[in-house]
This record gives sequence, structure tokens and C-alpha cells, in this order.
Amino acid sequence: MILPYRILERKRAGMRLAEEEILEVVRGAADGSWSDAQLGAFLMASAIHGLDVEETRALTLGMLESGERWFLARDVPDLCDKHSTGGIGDKTSLVLPFLLAACGLPVSMLAGRGLGHSGGTMDKLEAIPGIDLNLDRARCLDLLGRCGVAFGGATGGIAPADRRLYALRDVTATVESLPLITASILSKKLAMGAAAVVFDVKAGNGAFMQDEESARELARMLVETARGLGTKVSALITDMSQPLGRWCGNAAEVREGLDCLEGRGPEDLMEVTYRLAEEVAALVGHPRKRADLEGAIASGRARERFDQWAVLQGASPAWVLAPKLDLAPVERPLLAGRSGVLSRIDTRQLGMLLIEAGTGRVRPDSEIDHGVSLLVEARLGDEVREGDELGRLFLRRDDIGLVERFKACFVVSDGEAQAPPLLLGRIG
Ligand code: URA
Repeated sequence: MILPYRILERKRAGMRLAEEEILEVVRGAADGSWSDAQLGAFLMASAIHGLDVEETRALTLGMLESGERWFLARDVPDLCDKHSTGGIGDKTSLVLPFLLAACGLPVSMLAGRGLGHSGGTMDKLEAIPGIDLNLDRARCLDLLGRCGVAFGGATGGIAPADRRLYALRDVTATVESLPLITASILSKKLAMGAAAVVFDVKAGNGAFMQDEESARELARMLVETARGLGTKVSALITDMSQPLGRWCGNAAEVREGLDCLEGRGPEDLMEVTYRLAEEVAALVGHPRKRADLEGAIASGRARERFDQWAVLQGASPAWVLAPKLDLAPVERPLLAGRSGVLSRIDTRQLGMLLIEAGTGRVRPDSEIDHGVSLLVEARLGDEVREGDELGRLFLRRDDIGLVERFKACFVVSDGEAQAPPLLLGRIG
């Protein structure tokens, strides 16, 4: 055994860790022999000094091997998967699986909890009363056979080392690290073993990778490592300089996901969802045209898939008929303090404030509030007049200071401003 102290000392000094040292960290995370403090120290030292390609590969493979490997594509050869690197209001995971399943392509996904300032699909789905995201391989295959969609929370036998490190990164400010993100995402994706995976790598002030170049670097690292391990992959780099869609918050995002499946989705969210769906369908060798995807929504087939899936994973048939997803009761408008153009949204800060208001965790065991949410009514580049409503908050309790801080995230100035294009690039 290598003493944790020795490993931490070396990483603190910025030294490169040997494979067996990285594997010792992973072992300590998976079997509980390293304490939260020791793992937190490893994460902080790694976030500060970085991990090189060899260390990242060792961490990824170690985390992958820390739990079960399902090799699902052996049973479902056209199985698709999609993974986002995280952003605000990003709810494509609540739409894409049902859309593709309605077009004949099965999708399985491992949903994560909120991470750093970004929301997590698992937290969002748990706003549905009764939903059960515990999956094992047999249940996953059964769900895929019955409705074409399976959602697992990161709770089962897959990548237990990531589960622990992910929860610790969420509360130790060690999320924004390219190697840690790469190992975290790939260990789960590869352990599940879909035939094709599309990564949605977010770039912008609401993403972990704030500039396009580092997003591109992350996309390349994800694609090259996954491809090297035998999976069909590509990555789209998409804009996260403002929330995706109109709603942010757990229950509110499920509501907006349902709107999308019923043909009332906002344009930006639908566009990113369609692009990702087209990408992964082509990767798995069954390209789907935009008209096929739109038809699956317009005909109600995508929404039907959601209903089937929700009941199979624990929702009651009565809930599915009349979904009840309550918002928190204290409504506060966010009004423009001046006229001009909405030139910037501090998207990351919106995410942090939402967590402070209750949508995410302050400690690994914090309870989250599914009802707290934000409706974003203005988009970058919009002309606004003093007093216009830029957004609306739904809080559990009133807090004028918090409302003011939300308001300060929307910057109105003179002159012109334009939102960046939604799709910034593709690595494949
Ligand atoms: N998604 C993950 O699963 N892990 C990360 O680190 C970031 C996004």
C-alpha cells in the first residue's frame, strides 16, 4: 500500500503521479479507505496542478474498472447515449431519449446529480414523484426492450469511485478541471457501454469550460480517449453564454422538457436537442432526418414514449396523465433597471444563486428544493426598456438581497449585442 500522505504530498508539489499512485486514490475512493478530507486534498491539488495525459488515462481507466461494466451494446447493438458537460437550463437529456426512442433508436443514460453551478438530470428527474433511477444491467435491458429508454442515476454498481469523487468535487470547488471532468464522464459512459455516444461540450460563461478553446480541448480529449477504448463518439460544442431554454430549476425543467415533447419547446433548446439526436443517430449507423425527428414530436409519439418510460420507472399513471410539478410559491420579477440591449448574462452566477436558493447542494447530504426556479424571459441581444421583465424567480421564501443579486446577472447596456451561435463546432 502507498500511504495517502505520500501521494498527496507529491501532488501538492505539482509532481506527476505514477499509475499505481492514481490507482491507489481510485481504490481509496471506491472502498472508503480514503477519507473525504484526503480525497478533497487530492482533488484540489489535481485541479490546481492538473493531471497530464497519462495520469488522466490512468484515472479514467481506474474509475471505469472500479465498478461493473455492462457492455450493453452486446445486447442492444444500436444503443445511443448522450452526455453534456453541464450548464444552466440544459435539459436536452429530458427530451432527446424520448425523441430518439420514438424514431426507433434506443437510448440509455446515466443521470448525474447537480455539479458545481450546473444542474443535474438526476435531481431534475427526482422532481417526478415516485421516480426510481436505481438500475442494474437486467433492469436496464428490460426497460430498453419495453420503451426504448432507460435512465439510471449514478447510484448503482457503475463507477463507484466517480460517485464519491463527483459528490466531493461538487462541494470543494474542484469541478472546473479538464482531466477530472474527462475521467468522470468517460468512466461512466464506457462502463455502461452504449454503441455510440455524443458529447455536448458546453462553452461560455455558464459552462465549466468558459472559452471556446478549452471546450474544444475537452471535446478532443473526450473523443480521442473514448475512441481509443473502442466507442463510436463525436462531440458538439454548443453555446452556454445564456441559459438553454427558458426555465432553470428541477421541477421547472421537467415541465419545459414536457413542453418540448408536446411541440412547445423553445427554439434554442429544440435546435440543440435535434442536432445532438442527428449526430448520435448517424454515429450508430441509422441517420435520422430532421423531418423524422420533428414528426416524432408532432405526432405525439415522443411524448407517449415519455409516458411509458415514466410509469415503468416509478411514476404513477395518474401523474403521467396530469403531471404536477409545483413551482415554489414566492414569485419575484427581475426588472430591467434601464433601457438598452441585454448584452451579458452572468450565467454561472445564476447557477450559483439558484443553488443558494435551494436547487442544489451546499454539502453532499443537503436536501434540494425541486420547486425553486428561474424563468428567463430576455435573450442576449434583446432590446429592453426600463421596467421590462427580464426574468421571474420562484423562491421558497422571500429574500430581497438574493433577488437583487439575480437581477445583477442581467447586464443591459448601450449599443448592439448578439448572442453567439448555438453550435460552435464539432469534433468527430
Ligand atoms: N458530467 C460528469 O459526469 N462529470 C463531470 O465532471 C462533468 C459533467
